[in-house]
Amino acid sequence: MSAEVIYGKKLAEELRQEMKEETAKLAKNGIYPKLVVVIVGEDPASMSYVKGKQRASEKIGMDSDLIELSEETSEAELLNIINRLNEDKTVHGILVQLPLPQQIDEQKVIEAINPSKDVDGFHPINAGRMLTGQETFYPCTPFGILVMLKRANVSIEGKHVVIIGRSNLVGKPVGQLLLNEHATVTHCHSRTENLREHTKRADILIVAAGKAGLITGEDISEGTVVIDVGVNRVDGKLTGDVDFESAKEKASYITPVPKGVGPMTITMLLHNTIKAAKWIEQ
Ligand code: GUN
Repeated sequence: MSAEVIYGKKLAEELRQEMKEETAKLAKNGIYPKLVVVIVGEDPASMSYVKGKQRASEKIGMDSDLIELSEETSEAELLNIINRLNEDKTVHGILVQLPLPQQIDEQKVIEAINPSKDVDGFHPINAGRMLTGQETFYPCTPFGILVMLKRANVSIEGKHVVIIGRSNLVGKPVGQLLLNEHATVTHCHSRTENLREHTKRADILIVAAGKAGLITGEDISEGTVVIDVGVNRVDGKLTGDVDFESAKEKASYITPVPKGVGPMTITMLLHNTIKAAKWIEQ
C-alpha cells in the first residue's frame, strides 16, 4: 500500500480563498478583522513564522500589525503593551510569538491577553473551555490537524489516536480536540516505555516530538493515518519527525513536511481572528 498524501498547503489555499470572501463580506458591514503579532527578540525561525502570519493576513484582506521588541524587553513593558492591545477596540486578535526571552514569564503573558482576543487559544480560560467541550478558540496547530482529518474524510469517532508529544501548544490540546470528537486517545512522550507497542496500535498517529526521523515504517501498522507535526532542520533541509518514504509504504494517509500541517496552522490563526472580530463586533 502506498499512502494518499494529505497536502495541508492545498487545503490551506482553499480555506484562505473562502476567508477572503468572508472578510470582503464583513468589510461591507464595516468590520475589519485585525491581528496584532508581538515578537520579542530576533530569533530567525520566529521572525520567519511571524512574517508568514502577516503576509497571510494581508493576502486575505485582513488588517495586521507587527510589534517588534528588543531581546532586552522587560516583562512589565510587554504586559503594558498587551494591556494597551486589550483595550484597543480596533484589535480583534493578539498573538505573542513564543518562546519568549528568559526574563519574561511566558505563562503570565499568556494569561494577560484578553481571552476574547486570544486567537492562539492558549489562555487557561480557552483551554478550559475546550476541555469542557465548549465553543472557543482552539489552538491553531491542533485545530488545523482536526480540519485536515475531516476534509480527508478520515473517520475519528471510536478510532484509536496515538499522540507522541505532550506540549501545551500541540500534544495536549490535539488529544483533547480528538477526544471531543469521540476518539480513544493515548498520549506518549519522552518517558513512555516501549513506544513502538503504542504506535503499532494507532489508527491515527500524530507525531509532535521535535525529533527528526523518530518514526519509521517499522513503527506503524498497515493502514495507519500518519500526521507529522515535526519541524526540524537537518543539513539545512526542513524535515518532519517521520521518515516519510518508509512510513508512506504502510500508511493509508500521510502528511508531508513541508507543505503538510504547517500551512494549516497559519490558516486556523486567520480563522480564529475572523471569529474574534465577529464575536466582538456583533
Ligand atoms: N511559536 C511556535 N508556534 C507558535 C504558535 O502557534 N503561537 C505562538 N504564539 N507562538 C508559537
